[in-house]
Amino acid sequence: MKLFPVIFFLLHGCCRAVAGINVMNYGARADGRSDDTKAFMEAWKAACGSSGAVKLVIPRGTYLVGPLLFNGPCKDVLSLRIELQGTMKATTELNRYKNTAWVQFGWVNGLSLMGGVFDGQGAASWPYNNCPKQMDCKVLPTNIMFVNTVDTYVEGITSLNSKFFHVGIVACANFRGIDIAIGAPADSPNTDGIHMERSRNVTISRAAIGTGDDCVSVGQGNSDVVLTGIRCGPGHGSASGA
Ligand SMILES: *[C@@H]1O[C@H](CO)[C@@H](O)[C@H](O)[C@H]1NC(C)=O
Repeated sequence: MKLFPVIFFLLHGCCRAVAGINVMNYGARADGRSDDTKAFMEAWKAACGSSGAVKLVIPRGTYLVGPLLFNGPCKDVLSLRIELQGTMKATTELNRYKNTAWVQFGWVNGLSLMGGVFDGQGAASWPYNNCPKQMDCKVLPTNIMFVNTVDTYVEGITSLNSKFFHVGIVACANFRGIDIAIGAPADSPNTDGIHMERSRNVTISRAAIGTGDDCVSVGQGNSDVVLTGIRCGPGHGSASGA
């Protein structure tokens, strides 16, 4: 009898489980045809508005989504773990992208993004990319963009057929990416694998990148960048500079 309160405490009091927010509870259909953008944005709003250690789950299935701007600040969130078990497919309607990103994570601290596939469905839009030929061109959206994030951990994601760059890391601090797979045909325009600029303390390890442009491009204003175990090809290796 005396043990009961202790056991009760262990089961219920101690170590509260990480709050889980599931896109399916926000109306996602996961059928690959219905537009799940609204469900994802509602789930993000709930996750970003929670407190403590927060988990956002995207279960197995295929989700057709338009631009997703997952922006903070998430004031009371200490860490935000996104578990993507399924595949996200980008809408091919180009006029829906007002931003330069398809999926953007911005102004978030302590984000981890685990697993999943980001399919940019770029083949339909590559013919509209005139950037290789023209200076003032309209830039197509990057598959996954990190902007102004601090302490970001990305593991086991796959990015396919981005409309433009695959992964962008802009003005971030303390970014670690591991086991990232990136693929687009060798003749696809500007499908750079990972592009970074104005970021500090970025480590990318064990990435497999095959694209139509640079595997990793290190732009302006970065410091403390470590790249290890990058398998590159097709693609142009790692470029530094603009
Ligand atoms: C660099 O980032 C890692 C996390 O990726 C962190 O553990 C480390 O403390 C950071 N280093 C500095 C100097 O901020």
